[in-house]
Amino acid sequence: MATKKIGIMTTGGDCSGLNTVIQRVVDGCVRRKWRIVGIKDGTDGLYENPAQTIDLSDETFRFASAHLAGSILSNGNAGTTNFEYFARTGKLATFNKRLQKSLKDLDLDAMVLIGGNGSLSLAHLHSEIYSNLQLVCIPKTIDMDVPLTDNTIGFDTAVQQLVSYCDQLLLTARSHHRWFIVQTMGRDCGQLALHAGVAIAADAILIPEIKFDIDNLVKHIKQSKRDYGIIMVSEGISIRGHSGKPADMVSRKLTAANIANRTAFPEHIQRAGDTVATDRILAAGFADTALKAIESGETFVMTTIQNGEYKTISLDEFFKAGKQQKDPHIIGAMTSNAYVEPDNILLQIATDMGIYIGEKRK
Ligand code: F6P
Repeated sequence: MATKKIGIMTTGGDCSGLNTVIQRVVDGCVRRKWRIVGIKDGTDGLYENPAQTIDLSDETFRFASAHLAGSILSNGNAGTTNFEYFARTGKLATFNKRLQKSLKDLDLDAMVLIGGNGSLSLAHLHSEIYSNLQLVCIPKTIDMDVPLTDNTIGFDTAVQQLVSYCDQLLLTARSHHRWFIVQTMGRDCGQLALHAGVAIAADAILIPEIKFDIDNLVKHIKQSKRDYGIIMVSEGISIRGHSGKPADMVSRKLTAANIANRTAFPEHIQRAGDTVATDRILAAGFADTALKAIESGETFVMTTIQNGEYKTISLDEFFKAGKQQKDPHIIGAMTSNAYVEPDNILLQIATDMGIYIGEKRK
């Protein structure tokens, strides 16, 4: 087997499972006697001259904490990455050239890019950066909004984090006869709220994909046999005529109806937590699939799991399959997004459980 030099980097928001997938890729490279180099801080580190790297090929290299959240390689400066600056100032071509040069200087045969739909879309749209090597992407995000994959690294741990959080809240909710409105992350995709809401049997789940009637929500809570519980609200929902945080909006409506309540914001705890077993298995499956794709000469692909089968699909397929939206944070950037579809089985299960999930698909 010809020896190779592989790069690996984590880009976009962090989540639990990144270290596990990095470790599994490193293990697979070491077994194949390939060199593996970690790029620090995603494209920020790649932009540096010379690129910021750590050699991960040493056979004795093992993270004591491959199951911990965050990324040993880091993901770049929040909100101030070089990429964002160059996009804002219309100089992306300069930025891309610099990344291309760094990759040439590193003399890589392939890059394993672990990113969310933003990073994957960018890699597809700015393919010139990676034109001289094989690019294999691994999808990760707590939002689970990457088209054509049934799961993404970090999602199951984020759901577990929310479940543990809500289990604790329910104890105090019961003591004080009040309701908690828990606002989840997820951007404009409701998967995280929906999964966590079903897992804890929330009383209501509000997600951006489904229209809801706030008066019907209030009625539902009033009709409950309990005087405490959890209303799971995705950060992407809106109520006409109201601005501010969605949980606060719902809280005001409940207060006006004399329903005692508090809001709760688990925030970045959703991206933390020891990586759960299913995320570790997913990390192992994606790492294995990515390395096999490199061996067979594939490029501009991402790993995916569909109906239990691990495989790769082209970034072009990924991009075309989703709803193409303007990136809310990066001027001029487009992302390909997936959402909760009307046939999502959890919508039916939630309804059958008596959970209020709104009125109809938008
Ligand atoms: O995309 C992951 C995510 O955690 C979203 O769910 C959330 O809206 C966003 O990132 C938060 O970003 P930041 O960490 O920059 O506040």
